Amino acid sequence: SIAATIGNEKYEYPFINAAGVYDETAAQMNEILDSQAGGVTTKSATLVSRPGNPLPRYFNTELGSINSMGLPNQGLDYYLNYIEETNTDKPIDLSISGTSMADNLKALKKVQSSNFNGLTELNLSCPNVIGKPQVGYDYDAIEDTLAAVFEFFTKPLGLKLPPYFDLQQYDAVASILNKYPLTYINAINSVGNGLVVDAETESVVIKPKGGFGGIGGTYIKPVALANVRAFRQRLNPEIKIIGTGGVSTGKDAFELILCGADIVEVGTILAKEGPAVFERLDTELKAIMEAKGYQKLSDFRGKLKEY
Ligand code: DHB
Repeated sequence: SIAATIGNEKYEYPFINAAGVYDETAAQMNEILDSQAGGVTTKSATLVSRPGNPLPRYFNTELGSINSMGLPNQGLDYYLNYIEETNTDKPIDLSISGTSMADNLKALKKVQSSNFNGLTELNLSCPNVIGKPQVGYDYDAIEDTLAAVFEFFTKPLGLKLPPYFDLQQYDAVASILNKYPLTYINAINSVGNGLVVDAETESVVIKPKGGFGGIGGTYIKPVALANVRAFRQRLNPEIKIIGTGGVSTGKDAFELILCGADIVEVGTILAKEGPAVFERLDTELKAIMEAKGYQKLSDFRGKLKEY
């Protein structure tokens, strides 16, 4: 079996979509649920629907992708209604990404008073809202947010984190997170504010922010592996980890789970291949496990060897 659990949620398959990919509409989320995905994450919701940034705002390259979507979404009520009306055995994880602390608190109060009891993922790492820094890079803002949220929020909560690049950052962030009853973290969001250049046209490839945008895909896999490993070494064992970043094969997922991931999310490769990717990933991961004689993910999860 390749099943996995986070909080009360059971994933028969350990792959789901990363928030923001193939998940803005009910039709897209239904396609993911109908595939061999373990579940689905909603597009990060704001209180009020948003059209997002001007087009073009997403671009695929051979090794990954760049995006500056700007939180296009149908609004929190749409996603809460979708969850309420959808009959599925699979988990639906709700992503929230207000553009201010006040909006995040309002959104989470709405979730708290709703019937939804699944995983809520608070996104502290959107790099693409013009004029807004990523909360995840401001330790005081993380602490203030968690203190305010856990005043009233009693449902299972996860945090989507930006990538960190210095070991001191992991120490600082983990020591804050360990003070709160988080169900999980999700590492990593895109590597923010990269730049892709088209040499032929001598131009950027997306319009918002002069071409700067979040980088995903193969480029960022070592950063994802490092973030999952570094947080697994520092977080309380009760805090689970969703590993996200640069997964395009079952082998990539195997590596993230070795670093400590409980389940794995896919963004860029899902945008490139569509929901059929989930069956391929399940099959590839199972083949690796069979070749190595592993029966379940916990046989190797977190067991990365060091010299
Ligand atoms: C968007 C991008 C992100 O990386 C994120 O975490 C949330 C939103 C976006 O541009 O829509």
